[in-house]
Amino acid sequence: MNVASQNNTDFYGRDFLVTKDVLIPRPESEMLIDAILNLCGKPYLPGVKASASKITENLSILDVGTGSGCLAITLALELPEAHISACDISRPALAVAKENSVKLHAHVTFYESNLLDSIDFTPDLIVANLPYVDKDWPWLDKASLSSEPAIALYTDNHGLALIYQLLDELPRKTKFLVLEADPSEHSAIIAHAKNHGLNLLETRGFALVFEQS
Ligand SMILES: C[S@@+](CC[C@H](N)C(=O)[O-])C[C@H]1O[C@@H](n2cnc3c(N)ncnc32)[C@H](O)[C@@H]1O
Repeated sequence: MNVASQNNTDFYGRDFLVTKDVLIPRPESEMLIDAILNLCGKPYLPGVKASASKITENLSILDVGTGSGCLAITLALELPEAHISACDISRPALAVAKENSVKLHAHVTFYESNLLDSIDFTPDLIVANLPYVDKDWPWLDKASLSSEPAIALYTDNHGLALIYQLLDELPRKTKFLVLEADPSEHSAIIAHAKNHGLNLLETRGFALVFEQS
């Protein structure tokens, strides 16, 4: 497949293709990878001791809203024992993610899905960097975001609509949920998650890590 107007961005030390159809991977999203490696008891930084493993490495992970595929592909390469799937509502984004998985030799199964609508299995862990930007944030520099797709950035309810929807739909048997959100949204998300029986294990930069009781 030939994706027009390609660029490249580094994510977790690897080179990803990006086009106008996907969010440019951000450094803050690398913290989601660190958090998941930490859950698996894998050292993620030189000089940092691995924590006691909460889960085995051969777990199944679903990346919801995969975009360029940067999270799913990185996890597939960092956790070769794990079963990695990824979904997105955007078909053009999925085409870019698939091209990245081929380029980087990562084994990821992709689904076109509105959140979990077309997912017919229960992953052990869901990771999601869904749109969480509120168009009305006064600090927003919209011009600098204009080359990225609106569907990757903005959502309703002060930027919380999609994250709340995912929390409402989370399968009972999915043990862990790792989300990215702006730190200004964390307390609202933690409260909503608590109502669904999710306990906060840690916050790490923009990342929130929950365990289902
Ligand atoms: C913030 S981008 C994240 C992309 C990538 N995971 C990353 O970390 O760079 C959000 C992604 O969610 C997708 N998305 C938006 N609404 C969605 C929905 N209802 N269901 C699934 N994916 C959705 C967008 O197409 C976009 O690719």
